[in-house]
Amino acid sequence: MNFVFLGPPGAGKGTLAKQASEKLKVPHISTGDLFREAIQKGTPLGKEVQSILSRGDLVPDGLTIQLVRERIDQEDCRNGFILDGFPRTIPQAEALQTFAPPTQVINFLLSEEEIIKRLSGRRSCPQCGAIYHIAFNPPRIDELCDSCSARLITRKDDTIEAIKNRLGVYNSQTVPLIAFYEKRGILSNIDASPSAVEVLESFLSLIQKLKKR
Ligand code: AP5
Repeated sequence: MNFVFLGPPGAGKGTLAKQASEKLKVPHISTGDLFREAIQKGTPLGKEVQSILSRGDLVPDGLTIQLVRERIDQEDCRNGFILDGFPRTIPQAEALQTFAPPTQVINFLLSEEEIIKRLSGRRSCPQCGAIYHIAFNPPRIDELCDSCSARLITRKDDTIEAIKNRLGVYNSQTVPLIAFYEKRGILSNIDASPSAVEVLESFLSLIQKLKKR
């Protein structure tokens, strides 16, 4: 199945996508991770998008669509994928229909108050990409990644100012995708407020139901 994970920043898309990717044995493609990797490596793409990501604005559609198209063309996406953070605009969604239409879109629901709590306490591993939260999912050793022992970082776009901008961008540019996919009959909502374990359970039971259709 080709999944798209849709939802506001901080809803837990990346956290669930990492677990779901292992369970379903399909790659997790996060446009945010691809951009952050390019920034870390100092590639021309990274230099171009660095300030856009720090502010919490969107990278231009042309660049983003090209990046995703090239990633989906790779062999490991043959049996499906989980797209996390793409599409985020109507032109991106229209482009995706032409080269890899989603079979199911999961829309994560979370209040703004919870979003701010989750993003302001997030810590990320710059080496392996693991995601933590100082209260909800702390590492075993303070500020160090459980998997690779790298020192955890706070993302540059997890400041209150950038979070507010990201929420505004989400509401104006990405919310219209809910109607876009509802019209196509492929959108399912998941309540993202329970624990990460419970959200994974809801997702897996949703897939079972979809398979029986
Ligand atoms: P991106 O990396 O996609 O950021 P985002 O959509 O804002 O989403 P986040 O990664 O912030 O949140 P998430 O929903 O994955 O939550 P997470 O699992 O980390 O994009 C970054 C930037 O790249 C964009 O702003 C833009 O500039 C650019 N970009 C990316 N895609 C683009 C596109 N298509 N077009 C143009 N530009 C694009 O969880 C958050 C926190 O909550 C963590 O601390 C986690 O531990 C905790 N948590 C997760 N689940 C739970 C739970 N169930 N209970 C309690 N805590 C939880």
